[in-house]
This record gives sequence, structure tokens and C-alpha cells, in this order.
Amino acid sequence: MAEIYQGEPFSNGFEGNDLLSIDQFGDRSELQTVFDLAFSMRSLARERKLPRILSGYSVFNMAGEASTRTLFSTDIAMRNLGADVTTVQDMSKMSMGGEEEGGKGESLQDTVKTLSQLYDIIFMRHKEVGAVSVAAEAASIPVVNSGDGSGEHPTQALLDLFTIKDTMGAIDGLEVTVLGDNLYSRANHSLVKGLALYERVIVNYVSPQELMPPQSLVDSLTTRGLQQRFFTDVRDVLPTTDFLMGSRVQAVRYKNKAVYERFKDSYKITTEMLDALLKDGGLIGHAMPVKSEYTEAVKDDPRNVMYQQVNNGKHIRQAIAALLLGKSLPSLESKPYSLLTEL
Ligand code: CP
Repeated sequence: MAEIYQGEPFSNGFEGNDLLSIDQFGDRSELQTVFDLAFSMRSLARERKLPRILSGYSVFNMAGEASTRTLFSTDIAMRNLGADVTTVQDMSKMSMGGEEEGGKGESLQDTVKTLSQLYDIIFMRHKEVGAVSVAAEAASIPVVNSGDGSGEHPTQALLDLFTIKDTMGAIDGLEVTVLGDNLYSRANHSLVKGLALYERVIVNYVSPQELMPPQSLVDSLTTRGLQQRFFTDVRDVLPTTDFLMGSRVQAVRYKNKAVYERFKDSYKITTEMLDALLKDGGLIGHAMPVKSEYTEAVKDDPRNVMYQQVNNGKHIRQAIAALLLGKSLPSLESKPYSLLTEL
């Protein structure tokens, strides 16, 4: 079988590249390049001084599955940098939509070759694993994976890692618990790949046995030296957890609705649990949307940084677009970003 294109390693550079998988990051310094730029973007945005470095650039932003955070944070992130943006919420109404839905059945490849004539970069969410990679291989402009089925969600992982580093001070040595659907959550798959690039990190997967992560993912991260542990009861790990990242069981991933019903309420984190069990100084987050795994009180708990994640996501996507399009922040050109960050 032909190998699926997975983007060039970022050790070869960012400009002109695609972002399809966290596997493209060979080491933490490449992650830090993104974080430093995102940090500078965030600082400038807070001062209302963000320069329009994408003025004259055109961005196509599409969602082949439901999206609030990824779709609209990409939209406003690009507009804040001065780009012209087309955001499409319903790909079925494009010519690539199925003929049974009133579309014309145009291929994904012909669609992105067409978009490559009109735009400078594509952000794409697609319901099929690997479809964004197929699109990137056909496109002649950078393509960013905004989530492909149960595959990967690299911009989410970047904003998650940025937020963990921002709030905890460092990632090295942390014990990170990844709760929920570790089998199908693309955000979790990308996050643990990113965590594997840091030192002495322990990942606790907490899931029903049937929703533990794919063995191929676990094996590849073991090879990279990541310590991984497996639990079904979250109470067993809260006392040693530095950061807990929640995920919901996603109805869309289950053809058999009875299976979804069986697992959808597997976990419910309460304030009382956090007070009694979470390690001192421990924090929690969530890629969102949240279903039953956090109570209403936990959603607003000061230890929960999930809304900070959303804001950071805007600046991570700005940094990614700038890097893939070979743009920098003019006022900072003479200084390395790493000297300007608190991260
Ligand atoms: N975190 C995330 O991907 O959210 P949306 O599905 O709303 O974009």
C-alpha cells in the first residue's frame, strides 16, 4: 500500500510546509518556535498592537465536521493578522459535496487544486482519517489539519501544550492524565505525541478498557521513551496528577449507538473530587466541547484552564499560519523570540 503523505519534518523548515501531524515535530525546539511566536502574538494582541502581517494573503478555512473553537478561532485569528478569509461551515454545499446531498461529487484533490489557485493557505477539518493528508499532497499551498476524523488534531495539541507550559511553568517532569475516549480522540492522540518530546513526562490514560489508546500509538511512544500508564478509575491517579486533560466520548465516532450509550457517562469529575484528591497545584483542562465528564461547577472551577486554551488557540493558529507562509513579526525581527518569552 502506498504510504500516506504526512507532511515534511519541521527540521526541514516551516515555510511552505503543511501541518498534518505532531509527528512532524522532531524535537521540542521546533515546538518552542511555534510557542515563542504565539506568545509574542498574544502579548501584542493584549496591547492591541498585532501587526497585519497577513495583509494581502487569502485563507480558506473549512469544516467537514461540526466545529466551534477550531473553525472560528482560525477565522478571527487570520482576520486579526489582516488576511482575507473564507470560512465554510458546511462542505456538503461545495461542489465536492455528495450528489445525493445536492453537491457535484467533485474529488477532494480537484477541490484543493482549485483552492490553491485562489488562496495562500487552507485550514481543513474532515471526517475521514487521512483525508487532510490526501488534500495536502494534492494542494500546491500549505494545508493545516484542523482535525481528521479520529486521527489527529495538531493545532489543538499545540494549544494544549502551550497552555500546560504557560500555566504549569514547564512540561518536563509532569504527570499528565488524559481522561475519556483515548481510542478515538484525535486531540488526545496529538497531545500525547507532543508530550513525548519532553523529558521525564508520565502520561496516565484513564478510559474504559475498550477506549484505551490504539496499541500502535502506545508502542510508538514507548519507543520514543514516553512513560505511559493505564487506569480505568480516575481516583487512582488524581493524587499524583499535575495536569488532567479531559475529553468527551464522541457520539459521531460510534456507529453502534448502544456502545456510545454504554461509555458516554463513564466519568464525572466533581469539585469534591478535585478538592479531596487532585495533587496540590494540579490543574485541569479540556479540548471541549464538554459533555458529562465535568460538572457545571468544574467547568467554572479556577483550576480549570479550558477557556484559556481557547484563547491560546487563536494565537497558536496565528503562529502556525505565519510560519508556514514565511512571515514574522516585523518589530521582533532583530531579536530571537526566545529572549522575549516568559514560557
Ligand atoms: N477543540 C475543538 O476542536 O473544538 P471544536 O470541535 O468546537 O472545533
